[in-house]
Parts: sequence; structure tokens; C-alpha cells
Amino acid sequence: MSSSGNPSAPPYPVRIAGTGSYLPERIMTNRELEESVDTSDEWITSRTGIRERRIAKDGEFTSHLASEAARRALEQAGVAAAEIELIIVATITPDTLTPATACYVQQQIGSLKAVAFDVSAACSGFLYAMEFARHAVGAGAFRNALIIGAEKLSAFVDWNDRNTCVLFGDGAGAAVLLPSTNGGGKILSSTLGTDGAQAELLNIPGGGSACPALPGTAPVKPAVLSMQGREVFKHAVNAMRQAAIDGIAAAGLTIADIDLIIPHQANLRIIDAIVERLDFDRDNVFINLDKYGNTSAAAVAIALDEANRQGRIKPGDRILLVAFGAGLTWASAVIEW
Ligand code: ACO
Repeated sequence: MSSSGNPSAPPYPVRIAGTGSYLPERIMTNRELEESVDTSDEWITSRTGIRERRIAKDGEFTSHLASEAARRALEQAGVAAAEIELIIVATITPDTLTPATACYVQQQIGSLKAVAFDVSAACSGFLYAMEFARHAVGAGAFRNALIIGAEKLSAFVDWNDRNTCVLFGDGAGAAVLLPSTNGGGKILSSTLGTDGAQAELLNIPGGGSACPALPGTAPVKPAVLSMQGREVFKHAVNAMRQAAIDGIAAAGLTIADIDLIIPHQANLRIIDAIVERLDFDRDNVFINLDKYGNTSAAAVAIALDEANRQGRIKPGDRILLVAFGAGLTWASAVIEW
């Protein structure tokens, strides 16, 4: 069974006041991967659209990527880190199983009075975080929120498995949410969905309580991403298409009212299939997966920040964010810029 729905809007509207992103400097190209696994630039590019990805340095953890993206979002929003009351980090690659990566971020950026915790919803995580933060701020429980999607997937990938290692990359994106006065960036609607029956299709089987990494023993199952790609592909197309339709309808709009779609950046063929089924102009779809690969919870957040800073989003534009990931989970949000 799966569940899906449009949460009702909070009492007061909420807007995105600033965005930020951070990508590690190190670029790993498809050609480099040809040297370590039986693959080719041609296969990766034609099957996924990915040309290169970023890899974090040793000693550079998910929290560091998250904190840098957060600083940039705070600067753009004109909000001091010390004023932040709520931090939610969406990640499936936390620095440690506990405490939450958000706790490290709280210290690194100096948001010392913020309540901080993580959400684990894979590639949908940033939109899950956005929806719960929207309600927290829109109900008046918190005066602001900092939401971050951040991943160091390079630490959870089997670099000898060509089925997965070519797909993923590291990075982080962030946004600051404020009660909406008259500024742009208002969140109009959202859709969230989960289907735990499909959990086996995409997971990190080792390292948790089901298969612990105890002292002196190697976990029976490795703590690396495992995926049934073809099955996930089909679910991704159907779930993202439906999430897009539901999110747009919940905002009282039609697809013709949408100026830009910012989809999860997993695979160009998935994006093309969705856009075709929605009968939407491909030129108005933001794509950066060629540069970064799939950065899971960070992908939509990074793309939103790049679209914002590149001037792809103009005041008054309505944008659709839509994502899909392990869980299975899916989500969408419609924003008026
Ligand atoms: N290089 C060369 N050949 C490869 C590679 C590679 N890197 N990877 C797989 N192959 C081979 C396979 O072994 C297979 O060979 P076979 O036919 O001899 O068995 C062949 O290519 C085709 O494999 P498929 O899995 O059918 O390839 P497909 O066209 O489905 O593409 C892919 C695979 C890219 C993984 C695709 O299925 C996909 O994008 N799936 C969805 C991924 C996704 O959206 N994930 C969601 C979010 S991730 C998250 O939540 C963390």
C-alpha cells in the first residue's frame, strides 16, 4: 500500500527568502570511471545524461557541505545564523547515525538557539523538509527555518559496482523559509507520498540495526547503495508524473500556468519521460545532472539555487519542484517566485 496526499496549507503563508548551494571542488568525469569499472562515457551519457560528478575530500563530511550551502542561503535571505530557530537537514548519508547531521550544522554555522534534526526520505528529502518546515513556520511555532538537502554519497557507494557508482555525486543545497509578507517565493502547495512496500528496490542494507557494524566484525551486508535500476526507473516516472499533477491541482493551477519545472536530477531519460507525459515544454525544465549526477536529497535544492542565481526564475514565475527516491518516496511543491 502506498499513501499520498496534499497536506492542507498552514494558517499563514510561507516563502523562500534565500537559497544557497555548495559543490565540492573535485570533479570526477565519466572517463575517469572507465579506468576503474567496466563502463564507458558513451554508456553513462546515453543512459543517464551524466557527464561528471563532484566528490567531497577526505575529512569533508555531509555536515560541511550542508553548512556551506546554508551560509550562502542565509546571506541571500539577509538572515543571521544566530536568528535561525529550526534546522532540518534532509540526508541519507549522515556524518554519523546519531546525532543528526543537523546538530553538527547548528554548531558549524552558529545557529545556537535552533532546534535541529534530520529527515531521511532519500531524493524526496528536501521537499519533505520544506513541507514540514512550512507548517512549523506557517503555524507560528517558529519564526524561521533553514532547510538543507546534503549528501556525501561517495562514502556510501561501492566503487567496484558499475550499476551504481556511475550515478551518484556529492553536494548540498539550502533554503531559508520566512513567514510570507509581500516578498516572492511563496509556497503555494505540496504533495507527499510513500510506499514502503517497495523498500527493497533501493536501499543501503548494512550498517543499521538490521545488519549492524559491530566492533571486530564486518557487517554481513555492506553499507553501500543497492538498487534495482530498471524497476526504480518505472516507479520514478509514474510517481513523479502523478506528484506533479497533484501538486499543480492543489495550487489551483494547470500545467499551462507553470513557468519552470525543477525535477529531481537522477536520469535525463526519467525527466524526458515525465515532461513528455505532462505535455510540457522541455526548454522550461531545469537540468544540471550532467555536471553533478544524482545527489539525492541535495539535487532539487542545488537546482533551485542554480535556477535562482542564474536568473532562470523571474518574479511572479510559478515553479514546480518534483522528486522521487528510496522508500519509495515522492513529493512535489509549487512556488510563486
Ligand atoms: N556501464 C556499462 N554497462 C552497464 C552499466 C555501466 N555503468 N551499468 C549497467 N550496465 C549494463 C547492465 O549490466 C545491463 O547489462 P545486461 O543487459 O548484459 O544485463 C545493461 O547495462 C542494461 O542495464 P539496465 O539496468 O537495464 O539499464 P537501464 O537502461 O535501466 O539504466 C539506470 C540503468 C541508469 C540505473 C536506470 O535504470 C535508472 O536511472 N534507474 C533509476 C535510478 C533512480 O531514479 N534512482 C532514484 C533515486 S536514487 C535515491 O533515492 C538514492
